Amino acid sequence: MYQEFYGFRELPFEITPHPKFLFLSPLHREALGNLQYGLSSSKAITVLIGEAGTGKTTLLHAALASDRCRHVNCVHINSPTLTRAEFIETLALRFGLSQHATESKAALLDELEPLLREGRTLGKVFALVVDEAQSLSTELLEEVRLLANCETESDKLLPIVLAGQPELRDRLNERGLRQLKQRVTLRCELQPFKLEETAMYIATRLRAAGSDASRIFTREAVTLIHESSLGIPRTINVICDNALVTGFGLERRPIDREMVADVVRDFDLGADAVGSPRPIVDSGDEPVRGAAKADDESQADASRSRPLFSAFRGH
Ligand SMILES: Nc1ncnc2c1ncn2[C@@H]1O[C@H](COP(=O)(O)OP(=O)(O)OP(=O)(O)O)[C@@H](O)[C@H]1O
Ligand SMILES: [Mg+2]
Repeated sequence: MYQEFYGFRELPFEITPHPKFLFLSPLHREALGNLQYGLSSSKAITVLIGEAGTGKTTLLHAALASDRCRHVNCVHINSPTLTRAEFIETLALRFGLSQHATESKAALLDELEPLLREGRTLGKVFALVVDEAQSLSTELLEEVRLLANCETESDKLLPIVLAGQPELRDRLNERGLRQLKQRVTLRCELQPFKLEETAMYIATRLRAAGSDASRIFTREAVTLIHESSLGIPRTINVICDNALVTGFGLERRPIDREMVADVVRDFDLGADAVGSPRPIVDSGDEPVRGAAKADDESQADASRSRPLFSAFRGH
């Protein structure tokens, strides 16, 4: 709809985990490295924790699509409210086992272990990824622990990744799940973006869609997007997409703070942020441009706006 108006080849802020739009903050990069290492080197259990919308599923997709995990055959479960019987059935079907293996855990393991061993001799790794793992019942978490026990004398046969919201951390601290927790060999936590990371994230997506960040949002608009999204990528996408619709409707570019504020009010996000004084620059909105502009600013203003500014300039 608005692509032509802004010069995009495609929509920049869809809320699907598209690898083309991947942005890695230092924490996201570290988490991606952990996932790749855990899956490809057959670590027992890797845990990835992060608030809703911080990018866990996006990183899982990126890890599994990466060269380092090319040899990994992964069963990906993202509906963790299964019963125990459904869990066993799902595993059996997704690992390509027989109907008999769907009937009980013993039957599942009877077929799964030889498959994992044979795969290993051929250089293949089978892995299990459970997304939304904070919703797994204690019973299923216990099943996961037993699967993590499949091993040869020297190697874990089924690397497992558990990804979930911060409640997963609490689950793993339950006394009854301490054996599971002890098998966690890699662990990482995603945090919401800092201001500079939000700016880089927006700039990365705009560039991937075929446009230049400096022509689309003012710095003040980006600051308000950050404050009202609390640095959560999914919310950043929703605000940016709606701000682009608003700008298109009004035929105005770049999008300024007021236009973002309208969206933020419509979505009932960060009301305090909309009402608060602008924290980065005190004067009117400035489109984000090149390095020369930063040199014009007073020392104090420059130091406050530089991180955001360089974020846009650096890509
Ligand atoms: N690092 C990133 N690079 C690019 N886009 C991202 C990134 N992180 C998140 N996103 C965007 O935000 C959306 C939400 O991210 P994602 O679904 O991965 O979050 P999540 O942590 O799995 O959330 P939930 O706990 O609700 O499942 C993604 O569809 C994607 O559009
Ligand atoms: Mg997810």
